[in-house]
Amino acid sequence: MLGGGGFRVPLVYGALLGDRGEGRVRHVTLYDEDPGRLTAMTRVLADQAAPVPDAPAVTATGDLDEALRGADFVFSAIRVGGLDGRAADERIALGHGVLGQETVGAGGIAYGLRTVPVAREIARRIARTAPDAWTINFTNPAGLVTEAMAEELGDRVIGICDSPVGLGRRIARLLGVDPRDAWIDYAGLNHLGWVRGLRVRGRDELPRLLADTATLESFEEGRLFGADWLRSLGAVPNEYLHYYYFNRETVRAYQEAKQTRGAFLRDQQRAFYAEAGRPGQPPGAALAAWDRTRAEREATYMAENREAAGAGERDADDLESGGYERVALALMRAIARDERATLILNVRGRGLLAPLDAEAVVEVPCLVDAGGAHPIAVDPLPDHATGLVTSVKAVERAVLAAAAGGSRADAVKAFALHPLVDSVTVARRLVEDYAAEHPGLAYLR
Ligand code: G6P
Ligand code: MN
Repeated sequence: MLGGGGFRVPLVYGALLGDRGEGRVRHVTLYDEDPGRLTAMTRVLADQAAPVPDAPAVTATGDLDEALRGADFVFSAIRVGGLDGRAADERIALGHGVLGQETVGAGGIAYGLRTVPVAREIARRIARTAPDAWTINFTNPAGLVTEAMAEELGDRVIGICDSPVGLGRRIARLLGVDPRDAWIDYAGLNHLGWVRGLRVRGRDELPRLLADTATLESFEEGRLFGADWLRSLGAVPNEYLHYYYFNRETVRAYQEAKQTRGAFLRDQQRAFYAEAGRPGQPPGAALAAWDRTRAEREATYMAENREAAGAGERDADDLESGGYERVALALMRAIARDERATLILNVRGRGLLAPLDAEAVVEVPCLVDAGGAHPIAVDPLPDHATGLVTSVKAVERAVLAAAAGGSRADAVKAFALHPLVDSVTVARRLVEDYAAEHPGLAYLR
């Protein structure tokens, strides 16, 4: 696990602990550049493993090649520039009157420009040291980073995100359908997709939900977007589309917030790592600190969006996460044991999502087996969604070009082309400010 000292490592390890099947994972190597984070995380995992017989062994290292050697699966969940970097991404964008968010709009572009060169280097190392491994990329912006890594790793890198699965599960629950029986017709890019239908034995159940205002407005996306807008779309968008459809409101809410999300998480995690890393703690203390911190993170997720929409608190059901690690485990199982599964993943689209080209990484349902993740043909997106998806893919391509060639002009283009950045002048100022802030952008000339 690259970024092995990262906060969400225990989610994945917890899923591995619950896997009692044949051929399960027996050994996990945590790789991280920060020894303090590794120590804290090793303690949390030891607390998790304590009551479990034959728990997967855990080792920790600061040597990338040592971590990669002999790996069957590589998890990549890194944060280039740390949460300080995220806080700066968000603050600088909001200062220019545009969205400052981890993955969407200007903030996401800055984060992508920092992360792509590092992700490409990691992909080269994987190709050299563990050429037979499957790489599961969680690193955000997940679609863009997966596309960068795919230049080296081809279809052996698969990107995952929990939000489409969470959305599908919420819709299924409202419809009284077992998510395992449902075909979720979801398509788009990471954090830019739509559920257009939910079919059970061939019958689309989504229209029944769209027609029922009370039920629609009883769940997270229904409250965020409002029943009327969902009916106008005839689909349920990924929650990240709230930043597009209600851009002014979300930008204002983020500007008025006491702290950005990144700054909140930076402070929260600083306290957690200090506590979990403190020597002489009783058994269980590190895990308890992690659990508390995680619960607070989940409860405050997208809080300003919900406030801007008057959506109220999150549902208890949405607080127990379970998407992220469940997708990861299901994906590994399907590949390692050839247990066929259908999962919504980020893979090269093979031209199935027109008009994007074959190399463009898209987020669509995939059939997964020992041969990897095979995207399934989906219905075309409606025009307005195609417009957004192609615009944002053009932005991603400009980021990839900027990172490959070190070109500031390409970086300006990435910001300027984004639908949520409304001026080339602002794009130029963003590049100046981000380059001045982040040492990781020194490559831009
Ligand atoms: C969702 C997104 C992830 C994101 C996570 C945490 O699950 O799909 O991409 O990393 O939320 O968001 P946060 O704001 O808590 O870092
Ligand atoms: Mn995500």
